Amino acid sequence: MTVKLERRNGIAVVTIDNPPVNALGRAVREQLWSLVGELDDDASVRAVVLTGAGKLFVGGADITEFDRPVEPPGLPELIARIEAAAKPWVAAIRGVALGGGLEITLGCRFRVATADARLALPETTLGIIPGAGGTQRLPRLIGIDHAIQVVAENLTLGGARAIELGLVDRLVDEPLVDNAEVFAHEVLTRPLPAPVSHRPLAKADPVLLQEAETRIRRAARGAAAPPLALAALRFGLDHGFAAGMANERAVFLDLRASPEAAALRYLFFAERAALRPPDLRGVTSLPVGRVGVVGGGTMGVGIAAALRNADLPVVLVERDAASLARGMDALRAVRKKGRLSEQEAKGWIGGVTGAVGYEALADCDLVIEAVFEDLAVKRAVFAELGRICRPDAVLATNTSYIDPRLIAEGLPEPGRFIGLHFFSPAQVMKLLEIVPTPATRPEVLATAFDLARRLAKIPVRSGICDGFIGNRILRRYRAAAEQLLRDGAAAAAIDRAMRGFGFAMGPFEMQDMAGLDISFLYREAARARGETVPETPGDLLVRAGRKGQKTGGGWYDYAPGDRTPQPSSEAARILAPMLAPPQTLAPEAIVERLLAAMAAEGQAILAEGIAAIPTDIDLVEVHGYGFPRRRGGPMFQASRAANRT
Ligand code: CAA
Ligand code: NAI
Repeated sequence: MTVKLERRNGIAVVTIDNPPVNALGRAVREQLWSLVGELDDDASVRAVVLTGAGKLFVGGADITEFDRPVEPPGLPELIARIEAAAKPWVAAIRGVALGGGLEITLGCRFRVATADARLALPETTLGIIPGAGGTQRLPRLIGIDHAIQVVAENLTLGGARAIELGLVDRLVDEPLVDNAEVFAHEVLTRPLPAPVSHRPLAKADPVLLQEAETRIRRAARGAAAPPLALAALRFGLDHGFAAGMANERAVFLDLRASPEAAALRYLFFAERAALRPPDLRGVTSLPVGRVGVVGGGTMGVGIAAALRNADLPVVLVERDAASLARGMDALRAVRKKGRLSEQEAKGWIGGVTGAVGYEALADCDLVIEAVFEDLAVKRAVFAELGRICRPDAVLATNTSYIDPRLIAEGLPEPGRFIGLHFFSPAQVMKLLEIVPTPATRPEVLATAFDLARRLAKIPVRSGICDGFIGNRILRRYRAAAEQLLRDGAAAAAIDRAMRGFGFAMGPFEMQDMAGLDISFLYREAARARGETVPETPGDLLVRAGRKGQKTGGGWYDYAPGDRTPQPSSEAARILAPMLAPPQTLAPEAIVERLLAAMAAEGQAILAEGIAAIPTDIDLVEVHGYGFPRRRGGPMFQASRAANRT
C-alpha cells in the first residue's frame, strides 16, 4: 500500500509512502479517496493527520503521468473531498511540499510544519500552472500579493515565513507526527475555522496587479505559463472560487498538453538522469576534499568560485605574484556579487590559498588546469603536476579545443587524467562537459560526475573531437547563420528570429559580444597548417578591424558605452562582395534552418559516439549555450518535427 493508516487514540495518521518523493500518483489518490470516506464513517476517529513518509511530505503530482490523460480520481476532486470531510484533516509537513503536495495541504483544515519545511508551487517551471486549487486557495490564506510570488514567480516559503504569512498554523519539532497529534487534540477543543475555499478573498490593488503583470511577463521571456498563472489568480479574484477552480483546471489541462510543457518535463527527467549515468552504477568515486586550480584568469577564477560556493577548499596557483594578485582580486569581486554575511564572505575567500609554484598542490585530491589554450604551456603544467601531486590525485584540464590525449602524453598514471570543460562564467553556467580519454579510469570518471553534483552542475559526457559537443555545434550554428546571411537575409532579421524563438541573443549579436577574433584566429591557424578553410564573412570584418563590441563594431555598430547593436552601413559595404541580393525570410524559416543545422551536427555527434544519447546534446545546448529551456533543445525539436511529418 502506498498510503498507510494508523489509529492513535482518536487520531487517524495517514502517511503517503510512495518513494522516491511521495508523488500523488493514481494509486495514492485512489487510496486517499477511499480513506476520506472510511475515516468519516469511523466513530473512533475525531481528526486526521496527513503526512509523508521519509524526509519529505510530497514532491507533487506524479509527473510521469502527464503524458497520459488524467486518470480519476483527479487531484482537485480529492482535495475537495478532504476539505469537505466531516473530520478535520491536519497536514503535518517536513521537507518539501511542492505543487500538488502543497495544494493537498490547502484542502486540510490545518497545517503544521517543521522549521526545515519548504513550500512552493513550481508548476510554471514545468510549463503548467497549479491544477488543483493552488491559484484559488493560496491567496485566501496568504493574500493575493504573496500568492502571486508563489504561484507565478516560483517563490519558495520556508517554515518560518509560512507561519508569518498564515500558510502554516504552527511550527513543530520532531517527532512531527506526535506533535501534530497533540496539535489535533488541541484544535478539537475549539470551533473549527472555515475550510480555506470558504474564506474571503480581499480585493487586490490594481497598481500591484499591473506591476506584477509587467514583472512576470518580462521575466517569462515568452514562456506561456507564468503570465497564465497570474491570469488564473486574477480570474478567481473577479469571479469567485468555483469559477476560479474551473478556469484553473481548464488552463492547467491545456498547458499540460502543450509542447512547452512536454519540453520542460523532458528536461526535468534528463537533468536528473544526467547525474547518474547507468555505466557508472556501482563505481565508487574518489574522495575530493581539497581542489587545486592552475591559472587565475577568466576560467580559473570562475572555477575556483564554483568550488568555494560548494564549500570546497581551493588552492589557486598562478605563474607570478602579479597574476596571482589579479586572480585573487577577481575572486573577491565575484564573491561580492553573492548574498553573504560579512562572516560568511570572510570564510568564503579564506578558503582559497593563493600560491605561485606548484608545490602548494601536493596534497590536493583534484587539480583543474585552466591556463592559456596552448598545448606546450599545458603540457609543461602537467609535467609539473605529475611530479608534485600524489599519484592518486585526479588531474583535469579545462581545455576548449585541444585533444586531451595530447595534453596527457607522458603523464605518470594517465588513468587519473580527465577533461572537465566548464563554461564561462563558471560559477554561473550549469554545464560541465566531462571528457575522459581512453585511459581514464572509471573511478576518475565517477569522481567527475560526483563533483558536478556537488557543484550543482549538469554533467554531460563527451567523446574527444574538435570542440567537444557544445563548441562543435556552436560552430555549425554560426556557419549556418553566415550562410543565411550570404543568401541575402539581414543579420538583424536572423538575430530577431532567434530571439523570437527564445534565445537571449541572436548569433551575430552573440559574436559581437564574445569577439569575432577568436574564431578568426582559429581559422587562420588552420590555414597556416595548410588546411583549406574558405574565407568567411567574419574574416572580412576582422581583417577590416571590426572584432565586435570591443572595437566599437563587428556585425553591428555600437555607440561608445552602449551595447545596443545598430545596423552598420560599413559592415554592409565590407560584406557586400560575399552577399546575395537582399531577401526577406520569414522568422519561422530562419529558425527552421538554424535548428536543422544544429540537429544535423547533433546527429553526426551521436553517429560518431561523441555523445551517447540525444538528451545529452540538448542538456549541453540548454545549460551551456542559452538554448531556450522551454524548447527542450535541438534534438527534442528535431524529434517533434519528425513526428509531425
Ligand atoms: N513526479 C514523478 N517523479 C518525480 C517527481 C514527481 N513530481 N519528483 C521527482 N521525481 C523523481 C525524479 O525523476 C527522480 O527519479 P530517478 O531517481 O529515477 O532519477 C527521483 O524522483 C528523485 O528526484 P530528485 O533526484 O530530484 O530528488 P531530490 O531529493 O534531489 O529532490 C524534489 C526531491 C525536491 C521533490 C525534486 O525531485 C523536485 O523538485 N521534484 C519536482 C517537484 C515539482 O515540480 N512538483 C510539481 C509537480 S506538478 C504538480 O504538482 C501539478 C499539480 O498541481 C497537479
Ligand atoms: P585567461 O587568459 O583568462 O587565463 C589564463 C591564466 O593562466 C592567466 O591568468 C595566466 O597568467 C595563467 N597561466 C598561464 N600559464 C600558467 C602557468 N604555467 N601556471 C599558472 N598559471 C598560468 O584564459 P581563460 O579564458 O581563463 O582560459 C583558460 C582555459 O580555459 C583555456 O584552455 C581555455 O580554452 C579554456 N576555456 C575558456 C573559456 C572561456 O570562455 N574563456 C570557456 C571554457 C574553457
